Amino acid sequence: MDWAFVLVLQIMIQPSLSVLFTVEAEQPQYIAEFGGEVVMGCRFQPKLLSPNDNLMVTWQRVTSSPAWEVYRIDNGVEQSASQHPDYQGRVKLFTKELANGWAKLQITRLRMNDSGTYQCLVKTREGADYKKITLSVTAPYRTVTKHIQKAAEGNEVLLTCQSEGYPESSVIWQDAHLQTIEARTIAAPTPDQLFKVTSEIRVPSSERNNYTCTFKDGHSATLLNHSLQNPLLPSQQQNIKGFFFFTRSDFSSLNDCYKVIIWSDLLSAVCAEEDLGAFVKAHYSNSSFSSDARRRMEAFGAEELPQRLQNSEGKPVNLQGLLPEAGETLFLEGPPGSGKTYVAHILVSSWTEGPKHALSHVLDLNTVRVLLYVDCSIVKRDLFQETADQLSLTKKISTEDELRTVLTRSGEVLLLLDGYREGNQHFDESLKRFLSQKGRCRVLVTARPGDCPTFRDTVGTEKLLELKTQTVKY
Ligand SMILES: *[C@@H]1O[C@H](CO)[C@@H](O)[C@H](O)[C@H]1NC(C)=O
Ligand SMILES: *[C@@H]1O[C@H](CO)[C@@H](O)[C@H](O)[C@H]1NC(C)=O
Ligand SMILES: *[C@@H]1O[C@H](CO)[C@@H](O)[C@H](O)[C@H]1NC(C)=O
Ligand SMILES: *[C@@H]1O[C@H](CO)[C@@H](O)[C@H](O)[C@H]1NC(C)=O
Repeated sequence: MDWAFVLVLQIMIQPSLSVLFTVEAEQPQYIAEFGGEVVMGCRFQPKLLSPNDNLMVTWQRVTSSPAWEVYRIDNGVEQSASQHPDYQGRVKLFTKELANGWAKLQITRLRMNDSGTYQCLVKTREGADYKKITLSVTAPYRTVTKHIQKAAEGNEVLLTCQSEGYPESSVIWQDAHLQTIEARTIAAPTPDQLFKVTSEIRVPSSERNNYTCTFKDGHSATLLNHSLQNPLLPSQQQNIKGFFFFTRSDFSSLNDCYKVIIWSDLLSAVCAEEDLGAFVKAHYSNSSFSSDARRRMEAFGAEELPQRLQNSEGKPVNLQGLLPEAGETLFLEGPPGSGKTYVAHILVSSWTEGPKHALSHVLDLNTVRVLLYVDCSIVKRDLFQETADQLSLTKKISTEDELRTVLTRSGEVLLLLDGYREGNQHFDESLKRFLSQKGRCRVLVTARPGDCPTFRDTVGTEKLLELKTQTVKY
């Protein structure tokens, strides 16, 4: 489909029409983050007179010539044969919105080279028109890892900051007195077309100071005085590689974690997660249900839930299917009384108690380090404030950025949003923003049918679980 064809179409069709057929872009430019998703919209008028109505919608990427076909639907049939391979499995048109005059295209798992100019072309019996839209994919240097190591010779320590992003970034180092320190910074391209930027400085090991590295987009990390007192000894340097690839199983307890933290500040993130996990577990144990309610809940989980839980095609789903994969959002929908809140409480108690839990043979949440349960029926503020408030996280986490880092870093965090209902602007918007930048965070949302149409549309039916209603016995 090209210009000439569009013009011919318009010339052929328009004179006979009383209303001009137009396509308007929702916004001329979209900015979205690497790894996240974007929904670009075109509105067409007049709306369809009947379903499909000879409707053809084509989204193309027109940055290069010839243009790449990103998505096409022709008279209700998706045309995937001509789709450019770069977009396979990553794009979706919100087909339900077509009846409202919207051709909305979602691209997920955004890559740097998705940046460029796109064109939506809509043709119906009434005419044809198109608009161009620019998409810019950004990659902030969001997660800065720090590393500290004794220099091979001399009385110096080597401090390193590393992060990935785009475009290439310089790194500025300052000490606690805001003196700038000269650094050695290198940038290496990654297979994802990002830059892995590594910056290091050398400081005397006797120095009592704090050092902060700051990337061009403002993301920074601080290496504190206390960790400088105990840099790795040369004899322990063989462990350094291990430190970059550590897993949580390297520590059998939180105490171990803190022993290691003395040696390397780099591990503080893992320890923080471990620590947070222990903290929220204590919180859930405190608010444990009465033994009677518990027994009913466990009976529900063992007997009824397996029969009620199914995917969008009506196929049964086992309890383990409630745990989203790292980076996945699952949506569990069920009418009032179908047991959604029981499901959420089963997940919380199962995670809190681990192998001791009555349902541990059918539900293993061992990969989850931190489960954050948010009761959405009482939310008033945004996602981060609510999570922090409801779980008293402010005792452990001081900034929204820190919480965001914990959530998105490892794939070992499960965010459980129970009883979500759209209508609270702060919460809705912050959730939408978070989901587009959620990194490896696992997200499970429960809601009543019809309570969150926008969210449901974004998640798509593959990620939809349903709870059937039966006679409510419990
Ligand atoms: C775009 O980037 C991805 C990796 O992020 C790569 O696999 C793909 O081949 C690239 N596409 C083009 C056309 O260069
Ligand atoms: C280093 O940071 C810590 C914690 O923020 C602070 O207490 C300490 O005073 C700082 N040290 C110097 C030398 O500025
Ligand atoms: C910084 O290091 C010095 C020397 O070891 C120590 O006396 C001081 O307490 C440390 N300060 C902090 C905030 O850790
Ligand atoms: C749990 O309850 C105890 C006693 O009421 C209290 O001291 C503690 O702070 C609570 N812990 C959490 C995490 O709420």
